[in-house]
Amino acid sequence: MSDGGQRWSAGAGRPLGGALKVPGDKSVSHRAVMLGALAEGTTRVRGFLEGEDTRATARVFETMGVRIETPSASERIVHGVGLHGLRAPATELDCGNAGTGMRLLSGVLAGQAFDSMLVGDASLSRRPMRRVIDPLTAMGARIDSGEGGLPPLRIHGGNTLQGIDYKTPVASAQVKSAVLLAGLYARGETVVTEPHPTRDYSERMLAAFGWPIEFGPGRARLGGGHRLRATEVEVPADFSSAAFFIVAASLVPGSELRLRAVGMNPRRTGLLAALRLMGADIREESVAGRAGEADAEPVADLVVRHAPLRGIEVPEALVPDMIDEFPALFVAAACAQGRTVVRGAAELRVKESDRIATMAAGLRALGVSIQETPDGAIIEGGRIGGGRVHSHGDHRIAMSFAVAAQLAHGSVTIEDVANVATSFPGFVELANSIGMGLQAD
Ligand code: S3P
Repeated sequence: MSDGGQRWSAGAGRPLGGALKVPGDKSVSHRAVMLGALAEGTTRVRGFLEGEDTRATARVFETMGVRIETPSASERIVHGVGLHGLRAPATELDCGNAGTGMRLLSGVLAGQAFDSMLVGDASLSRRPMRRVIDPLTAMGARIDSGEGGLPPLRIHGGNTLQGIDYKTPVASAQVKSAVLLAGLYARGETVVTEPHPTRDYSERMLAAFGWPIEFGPGRARLGGGHRLRATEVEVPADFSSAAFFIVAASLVPGSELRLRAVGMNPRRTGLLAALRLMGADIREESVAGRAGEADAEPVADLVVRHAPLRGIEVPEALVPDMIDEFPALFVAAACAQGRTVVRGAAELRVKESDRIATMAAGLRALGVSIQETPDGAIIEGGRIGGGRVHSHGDHRIAMSFAVAAQLAHGSVTIEDVANVATSFPGFVELANSIGMGLQAD
């Protein structure tokens, strides 16, 4: 697939038009494989993301004896082995680029009878794991890490876990999920309280697999000693993948684009609120999802029309709800009229790259005035020029600059784009099909 190339050349395309559906949600796909593997019975997953991150998670469970079939692209049949049915892996477990994979797996593996070793690629090997090691250790797990709490993680088996009442210091769905997954194996009750509510896919999916769980914004509570029962999982289209096209269609004059069946979990759609404050024209249609049922994921078609955008102070309360969308928002801000200020987003510094630094460097290379702050940035909207930018192996940085290039006065070369395959296989083809000008070299 052309996304595997190392470099893209991009330039202003046509107004964006047509309708498209982006691939399945990464967060939901990881969790569907995990819970399917730990359930009793056979789970069918439809809309599975065929990305490197989620395929790495599937391979990890195969290494531990779980049979996973691929009857067709974007479909998996997971033959669950039950909560205690995983087999000791003969090799290290490679999570690739996926922070979600490694952090959630650490919770699952902390509860096993066997030892295991989680490893990742160069980017994942730089990401902080103390945030999961600390609460899991407090529950009775034994985990050795590299220096400074970095991967690899050696997780010792055979420990009895105790439930915990844990207040997460950072708003992180990955930390919350790791603790809840360990809680499945723990004696007593596990409660997680967050400083700000984060995505609740683990909670919804645990409920869908029949595990008794109480949850609401910013809080979840479950007890150990139950069983997961296989079910069917319908993965919605990934809002974070749709985000690039939402921003592109908002920015490129003359655009009108329909994004089909996008996952609309309210803890993911903060970008819509931010863009609407900036003046964007985004309509939600045919909203689906079994309203009122806690285990269902809401879905909607989004119709995006070009509109002139103005700079804003991004409300800090929106930050966790749009944490993966800041690279795209920075591009919107660079093309808006006036100044945009982002604060309270220090977490961006520990994602697949330091997203404040990589976006600032790239936007500056295209002539945008941007000032980094420790927890955000101040961006002066205006004209984007051509030039060469580097994505630092970060999929969302690469795709954000492909969007920026649509507005650029000159051609843009985007280096180091192979990692787009972690979350968005087929991005180049889809982008071109709606009128973006993007070529894989
Ligand atoms: C994710 C949670 C977020 C997000 C990541 C996926 C998840 O990370 O950035 O892309 O699937 O739980 P944090 O929870 O660490 O903020």
